Amino acid sequence: MAELTTELAGVKLENPTVLSAGILGNTGEILKRVGLSGAGAVTTKTIGLKPRKGNKNPTVVDMGDVFLNAMGLPNPGAENFVEEIRIAKEGGKPIISSIFGKDAGEFAEVAKILKKAEPDLFELNISCPNVGSGMSFGCDPVAAGKVVEKVKAVTDISLSVKMTPNTHLLVEVAKSVEKAGASVITAINGLGPGMVIDVETGIPVLANKVGGVSGKFVRPIATRCIYSIAQAVKIPIIGVGGIYSGEDAAQHIIAGASAVGIGTAVKDHYLDIFKKVCDELDVILERKKLKSIGELVGTVKEVLT
Ligand code: FUM
Repeated sequence: MAELTTELAGVKLENPTVLSAGILGNTGEILKRVGLSGAGAVTTKTIGLKPRKGNKNPTVVDMGDVFLNAMGLPNPGAENFVEEIRIAKEGGKPIISSIFGKDAGEFAEVAKILKKAEPDLFELNISCPNVGSGMSFGCDPVAAGKVVEKVKAVTDISLSVKMTPNTHLLVEVAKSVEKAGASVITAINGLGPGMVIDVETGIPVLANKVGGVSGKFVRPIATRCIYSIAQAVKIPIIGVGGIYSGEDAAQHIIAGASAVGIGTAVKDHYLDIFKKVCDELDVILERKKLKSIGELVGTVKEVLT
């Protein structure tokens, strides 16, 4: 068995699989169960300052390998989530606390409340495709850097920044958040937004009309984003997007990710997905005669001409 441990800003993971934000992360008990089922770390649902209902149903469209969601960041509010993080920690795995705010100051307010539960990392969701201003920080290097600075001022807990792929300024945003003090980058959030229309009625299926796109086919876009970011920054990356197998995970890792986020695949593989990806990664490492995940990170080669 190869060494699957990895590290994100001093936080040790026993394997590189991370439950992504927004999937099963609504309560401490579920997060605990995911941790116990074999994930290397778990990310909470994105939490804001006040309780929020989110969008009207339908909020998801399941097209098999493609998934559209427009949840609209439903959450119970920061004060009500402190205890959930404490419970999640009983799963024994690092907890990544995903947060959002309407402006940089509100991101900091949320962090101030949730730091009471001592999560291992904060993940700043500056990239939600489903709420009015959700992606605005993620498309603007200056605004993204400002969110990091404001949150850093209120906590010593290391920060990851969740990137949107929906910008031509991807690399500039990554460089800016690194300069502002982010310790990790999570790449990527949902693509789009996209739209699905019911042909009989002519009505968009999502009540929100549009939603973030995830699932299998997102993987090559995520790998490209991870590759571009890894060439530009020194901080570790959690590679997210379309991971269903060890082979998918290995591509993100070779592109530069130190850990991999798994979300949509939970729908098909339930909690077995974390062990499945780890077992398949182990086979790949053995095949390549590598002793550890670390030996695979960022080993992408130049194209032969
Ligand atoms: O709408 C949602 O709750 C999704 C958030 C996200 O993709 O960041």
